Amino acid sequence: MTIPRKVKLVEVGPRDGLQNEPGQVPTAVKVELIHRLQDAGLGVVEAAAFVSPRWVPQMADAAEVMAAIRRKPGVSYPVLVPNRKGLDAALAAGAREVVVFGAATESFSRKNTNCSIAECLARFQEVCREALDHGVKARGIISVALGCPYEGEVKPQAVVAVARALEDMGCYEVAIADTIGVATPGKTRAAFEAVARHIAVKRLAGHFHDTYGQALANIYAALECGIATFDSSVAGLGGCPYAKGATGNVATEDVLYMLSGLRVETGVDLDRLVAAGEYICGELKRPTHSKAARALAARARAA
Ligand code: HMG
Ligand code: MG
Repeated sequence: MTIPRKVKLVEVGPRDGLQNEPGQVPTAVKVELIHRLQDAGLGVVEAAAFVSPRWVPQMADAAEVMAAIRRKPGVSYPVLVPNRKGLDAALAAGAREVVVFGAATESFSRKNTNCSIAECLARFQEVCREALDHGVKARGIISVALGCPYEGEVKPQAVVAVARALEDMGCYEVAIADTIGVATPGKTRAAFEAVARHIAVKRLAGHFHDTYGQALANIYAALECGIATFDSSVAGLGGCPYAKGATGNVATEDVLYMLSGLRVETGVDLDRLVAAGEYICGELKRPTHSKAARALAARARAA
């Protein structure tokens, strides 16, 4: 089985990571984190979410973050947008890429965005049309594609239906998300194979949370399906406020360590990435969730 020689890492720490923090992270810290991540070589850094501040207070400073970041040529800074209001704010803040986020189950769609899947897709249709009219790229994510905290098992066909809708409305890439980190490699493979019958693998991405410690194995299964884009979060920060009990995304450091061992090219520097993780963990006053970062730090101390 061959795997892609090159992988694009989509760093979601400043958004997925920090949206779940109990306290407000200062804007300057978010901006510094983004700068350190781009300086580590990440070409995509999800920077913020233009969502209701009543639903997710941690993202209330999205416009300030976008105004303060020093944009590096060649790097994109996607932002989450749930509706027209979010899109207008994102465009006003100079966003060049927006992310629409749907769900594979009705229950999660209601909990996360207060509307049905069909209503959500209708909103996204408008968001994508407007975004593309402004020359702004649109990316799609499908939450709870591999298991739902409210409905349990999710059939690949439910994921296929949403993925096709997102691609049809102009999303250049569709990420399949294991929001609560319950998937195992067989399930991951089945979902990607089902979606790949309708959408080219180069347009698909994996977004894995690591609740059950399966994320790296799931990424490997997705690599074997030809998937070459993965979302991950520095230091394994994160979770979704509407998926209780789910832990953070797979740590970018761990993904990078695995990919480096497989000789897969990413363009990301592991030492600088680890340093970015140490920075944010220092600010949040908590240890990293990345095993690779912990091991590298221990090795450095012992040297
Ligand atoms: P709603 O309450 O039904 O919205 O929420 P509404 O249209 O009735 O508006 C209610 C209030 O919100 C109004 O303010 C609107 O102006 C305001 P009021 O008049 O009462 O003062 N509002 C907004 N404010 C700022 N930006 C906006 C916006 N829209 C409305 N865009 C809504 C519906 C979709 C807005 C809400 O449910 C929401 O913001 N949900 C976002 C939830 C969220 O961000 N979840 C986490 C991100 S998704 C995730 O983490 C999963 C992912 O990582 C993949 C994975 O792992 O699965 C992506
Ligand atoms: Mg997520």
